[in-house]
Amino acid sequence: METIIGTDVGKAAEYLQNGSVIGIPTETVYGLAGNALDANTVLKIFTVKGRPHFDPLIIHTHSIEQIKKFAHDIPPAAQRVLEVFSPGPITVLLPKRPIVPDLVTSGLNTAAFRIPAHPLTLRLLQMIDFPLAAPSANPFGYISPTTSYHVYDQLHGRIPYILDGGATSVGVESTIVGFEDERTIVYRLGGLTVEALEKVAGHVELRINASSDPQAPGQLKSHYAPRKKLILCASEEELIAKAQGQNAGVIAFDKRIPGISHNKQLLLSPNGDMREAAKNLFAVMREMDHTEVEVILALKVEDAGLGRAINDRLQRASA
Ligand code: TXA
Ligand code: MG
Repeated sequence: METIIGTDVGKAAEYLQNGSVIGIPTETVYGLAGNALDANTVLKIFTVKGRPHFDPLIIHTHSIEQIKKFAHDIPPAAQRVLEVFSPGPITVLLPKRPIVPDLVTSGLNTAAFRIPAHPLTLRLLQMIDFPLAAPSANPFGYISPTTSYHVYDQLHGRIPYILDGGATSVGVESTIVGFEDERTIVYRLGGLTVEALEKVAGHVELRINASSDPQAPGQLKSHYAPRKKLILCASEEELIAKAQGQNAGVIAFDKRIPGISHNKQLLLSPNGDMREAAKNLFAVMREMDHTEVEVILALKVEDAGLGRAINDRLQRASA
């Protein structure tokens, strides 16, 4: 199968209407999308991605009204959070209606919904009359794609089309939020910060470390991982010590580490901007994975705001 990269939303819609699975841009990472209401198409998504069936998919819609066709009993807190942050890098877990195939939710009675903030994909969602199930468009366990080329690199020959919406602006996956009684729970740290969420939802509970029987298997301990061994270091001293006698590459926030060859170091944001760091994270991990170094040493960033999602991804990449 030939894989075409293009910007033709009409063509993308046609492929989807014919039951194909294609690459789509979002503001977080690229998705591997297909008709969420068609079990055969959903099965194709799992096959192309090499993803285990126990790991459920996010349903992408163009509006809160559309979500209501597939979810019921939406708690007031969920409604508020959706109104404030959508379209945007947030996914909400809601009780699903029977029309959503069990394969999408891996048999759970909740489904994950998100309205992506990307103009091309919003237009695409408005052209078709079904929502899109889409995991990140990477082979299971590998680093998520933030450009159409990343998708092509790994999935060419397996999908007919990749809708090119440029490099993603947020760069880490959506924050996954669930609601239980009166509580708001974050299951995956992501592009919407906990601090921003708390301004609207009040105190939120973090449930991001469970791993053997995860509610949100984005919590799987080893995930988002390069092929090379990655070690996450808490301090510059620790990193320097671990680099001794190794052919090591370094990923750091805004400053190179003294004493280590500069051409083996990649910075997430030379300007010291956390948003830029998140946007660059996966591309930098990929680039490092393609160099000659034998081990990747990453330095933790400040654990606040988007820095928490960055540290979370680096942590999982190191597991
Ligand atoms: O930013 C994103 O969320 C990207 C873009 C493409 O939208 N998508 C993404 O999908 O990251 P994926 O499949 O790589 O991660 C979705 C996560 C998985 O960890 C899955 O376990 C969790 O969402 N999930 C999906 N449905 C769920 C449910 N009903 N209950 C709990 N977790 C769920
Ligand atoms: Mg993923």
